[in-house]
This record gives sequence, C-alpha cells and structure tokens, in this order.
Amino acid sequence: MAKVALTRILPDAGMALLKEAEAAGEIELDIWPGDLPPDREALVALLHGCDGAIVLVTDPIGAELLDAEPQIRVLSQFAVGYDNIDLTAATARGVAVCNTPGVLTETTADLAWALLMASARRVVEGADYVRAGKWQTWGPTLLMGADVHHATLGIVGFGRIGKEVAKRGRGFDMRILAFDTMPDEQAAADLGIELVDLETLLRESDFVSLHCALTAETRHLIDADALALMKPTAILINAARGPVVDTDALVNALQTGAIAGAGLDVTDPEPIPADHPLVGLQNVVIVPHIASASIATRGKMAEMAAQNLLAVLRGERPAHIVNPEVLS
Ligand code: GLV
Repeated sequence: MAKVALTRILPDAGMALLKEAEAAGEIELDIWPGDLPPDREALVALLHGCDGAIVLVTDPIGAELLDAEPQIRVLSQFAVGYDNIDLTAATARGVAVCNTPGVLTETTADLAWALLMASARRVVEGADYVRAGKWQTWGPTLLMGADVHHATLGIVGFGRIGKEVAKRGRGFDMRILAFDTMPDEQAAADLGIELVDLETLLRESDFVSLHCALTAETRHLIDADALALMKPTAILINAARGPVVDTDALVNALQTGAIAGAGLDVTDPEPIPADHPLVGLQNVVIVPHIASASIATRGKMAEMAAQNLLAVLRGERPAHIVNPEVLS
C-alpha cells in the first residue's frame, strides 16, 4: 500500500478523494495536523518512507530531502507555483512534480485587481479611518487617491493570470502594456495590449502588476533600479511571489516617494512580521498570500492535487505535471 504524506489538511473536496482511496486500501495517509507548516525536522519525519506527498508553498523540498527518501515518486503541489520544490533535483531523481494550474487563474486575477483598486482608492486607509472614529465630515480633499479608469496598466508576466488581469483592465478602459520574455503576440493583439520591454513598461505605467513565476531570472526583478524607473505616482501590485521584489528597495521607494504605493499578496519574507517597516507604511496594503483563496477555487485545487497524486501512484498520467519527462 502506498504511503502518502499531507503537509496540511486540505479543503474537503481533496480530502474526500484521498479518504476514499484510503478506505479502498489503496493508500495510507499520514497527515500533519498543525495549522502551521511542519518545521524542517517534522517535514523530514513526515516524508520518511512515503511514496508520495501533497505539499504546499510553505514546504521547501530540496535534493537532500529527496536523496534521503528515494522511494518518493510524486510531489503534488497544492498551488500553481512550485518554486519551493527543487525541480531539477526532483526530475533528476525521477520524481513527478504536479501542480494546480488553470483553476485559480481568474480567482488570482480578481485578488490582484482588488489590491489594485484598494491601493488606488485608499480603501484600507478609509476603513481604518472610520473604525478609529476619525470620520467627522465629508471632506473636499479627504483620502484622495488615483483613478484606475483610463490609467496605464503594466503587466509583468503575460501568462494565464496576467491575461486575466489585462481583461479586467480592459473593462476599466485602461491602456495596457505587457512584458514577457516569451510574449503571446496573438493574445496581446486580441486583447489590444502593447507588448513592450520592461523599462518602457516601468516608465509608462500608473500601475505595475507582477504575474511572473519566481525563477533565478525573476528574483529581485523589481529592484532599486527598476523602482527608480517608475513614476512617483505609480502603484506596484504583487500577487506573484515575494522575492520577485527586493523588499528593502521597495521600503525605500515607498518611504522616499519614489513610487506612490503598493498592494501585496506576497512578501519577502513571508509571513512578514507585523513590526517590519513595510507593514507600518500607510501607502501599502498587504494581505496574507490569499490570491487563490476563494472557497470554490481552493476546493478545486484540493481535488486536482489529490487527483494528480493518485494518478502517479496508479501508474497513470496525471492531468497536470510540470516534468512529464519523468513518466517515460
Ligand atoms: C499560490 O501562490 C500558487 O502558486 O498557486
């Protein structure tokens, strides 16, 4: 019987599939019970002897761990991004790495859009103001923000999620620029989007929204030099991965007025401590990495992660595998 580790309890739709397979005597589940991720030692212990695991963005899996557990056949990631897994090491050891693309695209774009709107129109500052009992009158200059409609939106990473954000921008009559190292020219033409280089995008956008994967090339893509190119009125949105932005440079840019604000679903470090200088800034809205967290989408992701895992263990081709070469 295959041993399967889960590093967190998943939404019901995924748990039901796994419990069914367990009841059928197909797998044996070992579930980390905590609300917080297992620490290194607990992760090593949890993965010991398992044939497959469903893992999260909070579970770093490197070559050392895979070498210690050579029987592992599949790592099924409960996310579309899988930068917590050393893919090269997994592939070299024949471990299938699966993920959950597609189902979270629009949900993630919605949250990026919520951050953009909230940052532009100072929604969180306004809510805090009311809650603090400061609202005394209608003010002619009270909490003035930036218009979203007819502004210029710059999308860094014109993949599935970037395109959905572009569609939302179309609804707001925005001029839309996009940068991607492998640009989809047809999609750009269909959506009326200008494909530009990163420098042009940073210089001309009122909103810069990040939607690229975290790789060696995109780590600190938005550094002090990039931030210096942005307009002092511009707002940065990050619903990709925290390390795409150099946090110290961002704090500096926000403190000195090099840019006007930021809306962040992801941070570096993550979680970001409450006493971090970024958290204390008025012109920043931070939410705790919840872009895919709609009830429906998290259910679909759990189902997909379970299906991917079970498929590999059954010797079938999983619907979503990032290193299919290990199957042959
Ligand atoms: C979440 O961050 C994901 O990559 O799905």
